[in-house]
Amino acid sequence: LNCLQKVDTFLHRGVGTDAAVAQAQTTERDGSEAKDGRRSLLAVQDERREQAEKSVLISCQSRPSEKKFLKYLSRHGDVNKYFFYESYGVYAVVEFASRDGVASLIEAATIPSVSHESMVPFKSRLLSLRSVDSLNHQSGLPCQPQTSVSISELVHRLSSEDSVEQQITSLTEAFQLTEENSRLRFLVCSLLNDIAAAYFPECTIRPFGSSVNGFGKLGCDLDMFLDLDSISGWNVKQPKAGLLLEYQMKRANSERAVTQSILSVIGECVDQFGPGCVGVQRILNARCPLVRFSHQPSGFQCDLTANNRVAMISTELLYLYGELDPRVRHLVFTIRCWARAHGITSSIPGAWISNFSLTVMVLFFLQKRNPPIIPTLNHLRDLAGPADNSVIEGHDCTFVRDFSKIHLQRNSETLETLLCEFFVFYATFPFSRMSINIRKGKEQNKPEVAPLHIQNPFETSLNVSKNVNATQLSRFVALCQESSWLIQQSERNSPKSAAGESSPTPWGLAALLLPSQVEGMKSRKKRRREPVSETIKSLLESLKNKNQGKKR
Ligand code: CTP
Ligand code: MG
Repeated sequence: LNCLQKVDTFLHRGVGTDAAVAQAQTTERDGSEAKDGRRSLLAVQDERREQAEKSVLISCQSRPSEKKFLKYLSRHGDVNKYFFYESYGVYAVVEFASRDGVASLIEAATIPSVSHESMVPFKSRLLSLRSVDSLNHQSGLPCQPQTSVSISELVHRLSSEDSVEQQITSLTEAFQLTEENSRLRFLVCSLLNDIAAAYFPECTIRPFGSSVNGFGKLGCDLDMFLDLDSISGWNVKQPKAGLLLEYQMKRANSERAVTQSILSVIGECVDQFGPGCVGVQRILNARCPLVRFSHQPSGFQCDLTANNRVAMISTELLYLYGELDPRVRHLVFTIRCWARAHGITSSIPGAWISNFSLTVMVLFFLQKRNPPIIPTLNHLRDLAGPADNSVIEGHDCTFVRDFSKIHLQRNSETLETLLCEFFVFYATFPFSRMSINIRKGKEQNKPEVAPLHIQNPFETSLNVSKNVNATQLSRFVALCQESSWLIQQSERNSPKSAAGESSPTPWGLAALLLPSQVEGMKSRKKRRREPVSETIKSLLESLKNKNQGKKR
């Protein structure tokens, strides 16, 4: 069935039947896929990277005629897959069956001559199509959306659903990365890889963070990691005798200094020669040095880091948790969206709670259910095999990757229950004393003074949410209180009849995404702040007592 589904996906896109069958067979053969279809993140990434290396990005003046466009491309090689999207113009992503197709296309392309500008002699895989009239056409395959719907559109959409459960799944569907967006992310990494390879021919640029951890929303930033491990000798045993490569031995004071100088030259290169890369900033003094820029043809905000192996591991961990039970991704998407709608998270760095912190908070909550929905990180470490062993800069980063070794406990709570309980859990969590710890799955005494303490799962002496101030934490708590109250109101929690109305009344999850009542009251009448949150708190306590009564 799995194999058939894959073929169907390819056929649906209209091209490459043979290639699809071959690919589905290869996946079955190489054993990187578990029986139930779940694959490790590394296996997924390898496949995506290979696709990206055989792909080009073409800027089109307007939508070309699909038939003629394909005919033109197929002169250079078989096309596996293609799609169009819009981002300040129309673009096409084209994957050839082999790299020869790309080479032939580039070979045949003309280098433009512009009288008032000089060209940098770098042949990239970002091309532009000067269309002759015969290639121009207005109809064809629709453009694939690369951005998510607005909150107001989402509220409208969710209001027509029949249950909170459906609202939550519908939200995930609206926000999650599409197949095309995911391909585009890997292609941008691959284009950047070509630039970085000018300095480091064997380097790999890999995406990490929400682009690949399963929790990415359309429009999220593209975190990239310049991986030099294959050439840096990291993790390699030194032989007693033999040749040593001198070019690698140029000394630097620290690994951090090496990272900074590598990113500095790559940043310069991206700035000077990177097609479509604009607004390049080299932020080298940050705890994790990075180069930030905007990749115009894709519309992605990119953060390029190096020597960031722990972040890569935490991406793998989040991916694993997201694959264990579908409720994990649904709840994370819902909470991330809810937090964004209320300004708890922001795209601007500051004292806000980050999406990463929020995700860890959801995971912790799911570990605390009775029975737990997901295991603790320590349990995942205990299940690890020899191939999973990993110690990075003294930090134990070992955990199991093989899904078949992980046995989950039976917990059949609905998404509606979990959403409500999430708000109750954090509305009453003892933030002032306790730290959130997904390694142990238990709150721990806070090791340091910080309003919100979430232990970094791998660098355990670090607080993931060190940046969060007391004001932002209390806003989060107040909104949890309000939302838990709202969602337990039965009359708000059932679909409203839309008969005769042009737009259905927001209810259930949709109502939770509307501007907060508490916030509104606070800004209108600052003096009444305490009584409002106190009222909600006491209502919550009474609800909690009532629920506990029911359980007994
Ligand atoms: N990360 C980390 N420790 C932190 C912050 C980030 O280990 N204190 C890692 C996580 O793996 C995270 C990744 O770096 O997923 C990227 O960070 P960021 O872009 O802040 O978070 P995302 O998960 O990508 O979420 P967003 O969609 O907001 O970009
Ligand atoms: Mg990110």
